[in-house]
Amino acid sequence: MTANRAWTLASYPSGWVTEANFKLVESPVPSPKAGEVLVKNLWLSLDPYMRGRISQQQSYAKGVEIGEVMTGETAGEVVDSKHPGFTQGDKVLTSQRMGWQLYGCMKGEALTKVDAVRAPLSYYLGCLGMPGLTAYFGMKEIGSTKAGETVVVSAASGAVGSVVGQLAKIAGCRAVGIAGGKAKCDYVVKELGFDACIDYKAGNLYRDLKEACPKGIDVNFENVGGEVFDTVLRLMTPFSRIIVCGLISDYNATEPYALKSIRSVLVNRVRMQGMIVFDWNQRYPEARRELANLLNQGKLKYRESVVEGLEKAPQAFIGLLKGRNFGKQLIKLA
Ligand SMILES: NC(=O)c1ccc[n+]([C@@H]2O[C@H](COP(=O)([O-])OP(=O)(O)OC[C@H]3O[C@@H](n4cnc5c(N)ncnc54)[C@H](OP(=O)(O)O)[C@@H]3O)[C@@H](O)[C@H]2O)c1
Repeated sequence: MTANRAWTLASYPSGWVTEANFKLVESPVPSPKAGEVLVKNLWLSLDPYMRGRISQQQSYAKGVEIGEVMTGETAGEVVDSKHPGFTQGDKVLTSQRMGWQLYGCMKGEALTKVDAVRAPLSYYLGCLGMPGLTAYFGMKEIGSTKAGETVVVSAASGAVGSVVGQLAKIAGCRAVGIAGGKAKCDYVVKELGFDACIDYKAGNLYRDLKEACPKGIDVNFENVGGEVFDTVLRLMTPFSRIIVCGLISDYNATEPYALKSIRSVLVNRVRMQGMIVFDWNQRYPEARRELANLLNQGKLKYRESVVEGLEKAPQAFIGLLKGRNFGKQLIKLA
């Protein structure tokens, strides 16, 4: 077995993340203690929430301390087990505490055994993982969509947004995406089957969105915030719903964007609710089962953006925050 390698936090970013905020360290591969399992990580998930974990602002979860391994979920294989529920070769999904590293020990209770025959292992970090579950619970529990309604989702080609729009279509809604650039918009309509997708970088977001949503917006699944969200607010219908899932355009900003159109929430009696996916963690098996069924029936399309090698993780993470990913961002570790 080779040595373990891990990315640790070297400094807190101020504004945009840089590669200098991380440090690659080498250490011996750890041995599991009683109740623990040693996992060889095969896939590392890179996600926008990680920016919040290396910010010193207060959030819903504890941040990474200087010198600690960067937080992150992985999918991997059991190589040694001191827990009765796991044996060598089992494929598992780890918790975010595993982090950006090649090997790690975790308590068996923090691992989820997955069926890598039903779907490729990496999918458990994407459409069958945290982003897919976010789309599922946001739409089902907060969106309360009815057939015929118009659903808008930003970051539409990404890990969460792509599933949101496809679930909207399955529910009989009109699905309209917002994404950056023609290639992403073409993919959202032609491959994922949305009714329309607006390129917010083209400079006519309000006009284009109004045209794509002639009856207004009944459900907005917000992934981006900032000017995109401000524009969507202007088109909300009376008694519409907003799921505040993410505000990625603000994650690297030193000053938060100030919304100008919040009045729309008042005059339209809009119900706006923030969500954090782990509030539904007791129901993850139900959501995974439903999403896997849709995948197996060909009703859920999914795309990955794969970078090879742990050493490229900081660079790929910065790329994700700048929208350079096209689909779920992953690092292939082996
Ligand atoms: N609340 C929860 O429990 C939860 C769980 C998972 C994810 N999230 C949130 O959901 C959102 C999407 O996450 P994801 O994993 O699916 O990521 P993703 O969409 O796969 O990747 C992020 C995308 O955000 C877009 N983006 C970045 N900067 C932007 C900007 N300034 N303006 C507009 N768009 C920008 C880019 O797409 P374009 O090229 O199209 O701009 C980029 O590809 C994030 O805000 C994330 O924090 C929340």
